[in-house]
This record gives sequence, structure tokens and C-alpha cells, in this order.
Amino acid sequence: MSVGIDQVHVYAPQLALPLPALAAARGVAPEKLTLGLGVQAMAVTPACEDVVTLAATAAARCLRAAGVDPRTIGLLVVATETGVDHAKPVGIFVHELVGVGPHCRVYEVKHACYGGTAALMLAADWVRAHRTQARRALVIASDVARYAIGSPGEPTQGAGAVAMLVGPTPRALFLAEESGVHAANVYDFWRPLDRREALVDGKYSIDCYLDALASAFRSCRRLERPALEDGEGLLDRLARILYHTPFPKMAAKAHRRLLELERGSVTDADYEASYHALVAPGLTGVAQIGNTYTASLYVCLATLLEDEARVLAGRRIGLFSYGSGCCAEFFTGTVPTGAVAIGPTGVRETLARRTLVDVPAYEELLRHGERGGEPPADFAGDFVFRGIRNDRRMYAPTREVLAA
Ligand code: CAA
Repeated sequence: MSVGIDQVHVYAPQLALPLPALAAARGVAPEKLTLGLGVQAMAVTPACEDVVTLAATAAARCLRAAGVDPRTIGLLVVATETGVDHAKPVGIFVHELVGVGPHCRVYEVKHACYGGTAALMLAADWVRAHRTQARRALVIASDVARYAIGSPGEPTQGAGAVAMLVGPTPRALFLAEESGVHAANVYDFWRPLDRREALVDGKYSIDCYLDALASAFRSCRRLERPALEDGEGLLDRLARILYHTPFPKMAAKAHRRLLELERGSVTDADYEASYHALVAPGLTGVAQIGNTYTASLYVCLATLLEDEARVLAGRRIGLFSYGSGCCAEFFTGTVPTGAVAIGPTGVRETLARRTLVDVPAYEELLRHGERGGEPPADFAGDFVFRGIRNDRRMYAPTREVLAA
């Protein structure tokens, strides 16, 4: 049975801070952020938006685009490392807001940025396990990436969600059954229960990411069928490669590591050519949105499908997911010949509706944001976080959604 992603949709907050403005405020050269890290802007959440509204908006738009009745969903998994409650999962708010029926398993998964892939693989196995019924799962990766103001991680924040409909005979990406995984207990990035912002050992986290990549990739290569010929690399069989992208330069470092692993050594010219052909096309969305933790790899996938579904029809791509702590997976998928039919995946729409904020406004939102409240007049989302009353979080559709 062929299983995979039938539809994918991205939603990110419309507020964005341009990184040159942040560089000026922090007294660093703008090129350090725009070239050194490769980030152009990062999404910032308005007070009326949180990880639930991001997830629900992406999910509602994903189901609408696919023409799927929410009541036919049998499994709803939300991956996040920005959970809003220790017991109540983000998914159950989404379940109500989006109109999923009562006969559905709903829960949340966590393993840092790997959570989205954990949920996707689990959903694919759930679909495969019931060959006689055509079952559909809704997987959502949703996060708000927060580091302390003035810390080295500050320019690698962002926010957004990706919803993926998973089922048989998919229109967006067939998932290969074999993949390479790697896990190890490391303290590279974490967020203790009492903290709002993540703690990170930045340089060490890059080493952990690259080591996990090499290990997962080697494992995937060993499982490759038909087996690789002498002198043939797995990269030779892939038309594009998408990496978990906390900042675009990380994907560049990752790609160099894989080329060196497959070819022994690589010239700068060969690396540049390979990076621009295989990796750069997937990075345009994340360069403008910033890190979205669990959603990051899938923002890259949505970007690629929106821009290149026709070119990639029938071709195989590689995907690398990394979650600090750590767990990582290198897997592959094939773009169906009909992928162009999935239409826009929300990346261009998200970027077209942006409102740029300055550094004081961004700092105010970071310090006091996500309290809930009325949406701004031009609000781009479908759902609003109204605030917390009696220890209960209150959500509602926007007036536009109610009127539609
Ligand atoms: N012009 C051009 N480039 C410049 C420059 C200038 N004027 N000044 C500096 N640079 C370059 C540097 O050479 C460096 O590039 P290379 O790594 O290629 O050498 C780059 O800009 C960054 O400079 P620094 O290393 O000095 O930056 P930093 O110390 O301020 O921190 C960071 C960088 C460690 C990534 C930090 O932003 C951080 O901690 N981020 C959060 C952690 C993270 O994202 N880790 C990634 C792996 S873990 C993961 O992927 C999970 C996850 O999502 C968190």
C-alpha cells in the first residue's frame, strides 16, 4: 500500500521582524545574521495567537484545500515543544476548532524538533496497519521558538505550524517505508518545565546535529533497496534534500557534511553547485519565517511543493529531521506525478500578508505577548486566543470564519 502526505499546509503569524533591524539594535553587522546565519526575517506572534491557533488555522486550511470532511479523520496528532498545558494536549483544542468528529484518537507528541517526524511516521504506520480501510490521519507540527532577548539564539526564533493529511494514494509525497534513525541522550538544547525560553549550548548543538545526521544517513544508506552500486552515492538518487532548518546556514553545513561523507572530500565549487541544485530551493520560506522547531522541515517541504511540484513529479527527495536531546531521522519520499494538483501550500500566502514590526514592538510582544485578546483589524489567522479565564484557555473562530 502506498502511504504518504496527501496535502500539506503552512500557516505562520503575519507579524515579522526583519533581521537587519535586530542586528542594528544588538550592535552586530547585519551580514552576520543575513549571511552568517542566512535568516532574513522571523515571524512574531501577536497577543491573540499561540501554538493552538497556529495549529488550528493550518489544519482548517489543509482540510479545506484537500476537500476532506474533518469528521472522517481517525487520528489527530499534534507535535509541539511549546505545549500550553502539562495534561491537556494542544490537539484537543484543534479537534474542536476544526470540527473533527468524536471517533478519533487525539494526542500530543514531544521530542524537540523531531516531534513532527515522530508524528508523521506514526500516522503513516497507522494508515499502513489497516490495509482494508482507507484511513486518514491529521498530523500538525506547531511551535513558537523563543530564546532570551540578547542571547546568541535570539536571531533564530520564529513561529508557525504545518498541517499534513496522511493517507493512502497521497497527492503530495509517497513516504518510503525504510529510513535511518539515530538517538542519543545529549544536553544541546532543552527547556526546563518552569522556563518560557529555551536553553541551548549553541555550538555543541550544531555538532550534535551533524553527528546525528551522519549516523542516520549511514543507516538509511545501508537499508537502501536496490542496494547502491560501487561508487554510487545515495545523494545521486535524490533530486532535492530538505534539512531541519533552525537557520538556513545549518542546512548548508549539513549538506557539506553529507557530501564529504559520500565523496570523501569535496571542492568548494562542487559543494556550491550541489547546494544550489539540491538544497537552496527548499529554503526560501524558512529564511523569512525563522525557526518553527517541529514544523521547520515541513515548511521546507511545503515551499518545495508550492514552487516545484511540476519539476519534481515522479522524482525522489531526501528529508532529514533533527530534534535536540536527541533523535534524528533521514528518510526519503517520491513526489507523485499528480502533485501539482495539491495547489498552493500556504507559504506564499503567509509571506504576502506580512506586517513588519520594529524592535521595540517585537520586544514588547516577546515579554508580554500571548496573553490573548482581540485580533488586529487585518488579522490573517482563522482562530483567536481570547485569554485565560478560571485557568481555562479560551479560543474562538474569527468573525470572518464564522460568517463564511
Ligand atoms: N558577515 C558574514 N558572516 C558572519 C559575520 C559577518 N559580519 N560575522 C559572523 N559571521 C558568521 C560566522 O562566521 C558564523 O558562520 P559559520 O558558522 O559558517 O562560521 C555565523 O555567522 C554565526 O556566527 P557565530 O557562530 O559567531 O554566531 P553565534 O555565536 O552568535 O551563534 C548559533 C550562532 C550558535 C547558531 C546561535 O544562534 C544559537 O545558539 N542558535 C540556537 C541553537 C540552534 O539553532 N542550533 C542548531 C542545531 S540544534 C537544532 O537544530 C534544533 C533546533 O531547532 C534548536
